[in-house]
Amino acid sequence: MKRLLALVAMLGLLAGMAQAQGKLEIFSWWAGDEAPALQALIDLYKQQHPSVDVVNATVTGGSGVNARAVLKTRMLGGDPPDSFQVHAGQELIGTWVAANRMEDLTSLFQQQGWMDVFPQNLVDLISTSNGIWSVPVNIHRANVMWYVPANLEKWGVTPPTTWEEFLVQCPTLQSKSVTPLVVGESWTQVHLWETIAIATLGAQGWNDLWSGKIQFTDPQAVKVWDTFGKVMACTNSDASGLSWQQATDRVVGGQAAYNVMGDWAAGYMTTTLKLEPGTGFGWEASPGTKGTFDMLADSFGLPMGAPDPQNTMDWLTLLGSKQGQDTFNPLKGSISPRLDSDLSLYNAYSKSAAQDWQNDTIVGSLAHGAVAKEAFSSQFPEVMAIYESSQSSEQAANAAQAIANQVGLYQ
Ligand code: GAL
Repeated sequence: MKRLLALVAMLGLLAGMAQAQGKLEIFSWWAGDEAPALQALIDLYKQQHPSVDVVNATVTGGSGVNARAVLKTRMLGGDPPDSFQVHAGQELIGTWVAANRMEDLTSLFQQQGWMDVFPQNLVDLISTSNGIWSVPVNIHRANVMWYVPANLEKWGVTPPTTWEEFLVQCPTLQSKSVTPLVVGESWTQVHLWETIAIATLGAQGWNDLWSGKIQFTDPQAVKVWDTFGKVMACTNSDASGLSWQQATDRVVGGQAAYNVMGDWAAGYMTTTLKLEPGTGFGWEASPGTKGTFDMLADSFGLPMGAPDPQNTMDWLTLLGSKQGQDTFNPLKGSISPRLDSDLSLYNAYSKSAAQDWQNDTIVGSLAHGAVAKEAFSSQFPEVMAIYESSQSSEQAANAAQAIANQVGLYQ
């Protein structure tokens, strides 16, 4: 009997080993300075599955602007990676789920008990009535304003709580040869616009914009562009050449006072630049958005036709696990959406974000795929370009509405 059990155990082991072989190609935009958190997860996966050859396929470019284009070519060309990074929300649902290119992960969620540990509003973002389509690995906050406390003190200003207050500070900072607010390449400006829109419209108004209750041409929505224009006049002139990391560097280096960026900036400042939250850098909700948490989540799924589905399922199991999430997120600047996440592993910034996540009104990000389908969000930089060349709020608002109508934003 003992021998038989040993044989069964051995066969089980062999079967397990046979399962965990071959390749796992993970596709994302977490390259360079963004890589450490993903690398920690991959290291954990390799410990658990030493005989799997993990291919870490990255396409550089903040917020996935370049990666999404490469992914599209691969998916449409019948060459999907085993698993790819995609924002929870419309970026997933309005594209690859709508095109019936993803496998349903409902049974994985049930098997792992995830229906009880992930908040319902997040599960809703990655679901349709036909299934659950990805595994969220984090919660990032988009509406954060970053600064260096000692520098603000030196310049005699305090973090503005409204954009009006910021506009009052702007000439003071400029007179000291400091860039009041640093911005980078196009998507970072969409990100800034989004936070100004939330401040101007309020959380409810922002939601109404995406459900069609408010049109982009509504006077309140047009006003967003007026404020955006005034704020942009207080930014650096070399924005288009700057990555989000380089923009962050300007704040850290004392050339700029503020930057509005998602809290991957906290990950960069702590993990890469080794700064201490609170002293090395400070943070506040972006002006006018205190009490609102503009969220986004990175997630990974299993595309249909992925070459190594079993290895991908193991990868997704790790991503959603407590250990996986509490390994990844403290390095990334994000928090774990799991209700049982161990906050003692997180720094002071992340602890404060976790508290706000619990208490604030939650809204979804435009720049990072939560609220609008890609057909809309990928064209929004053109609206920004129209505003930049015309400096006309009405023209930008009309262009945004025209795209919304053309792509069927509200369906
Ligand atoms: C976001 C993504 C973050 C971070 C950031 C900068 O879209 O969700 O995880 O990578 O882009 O690239």
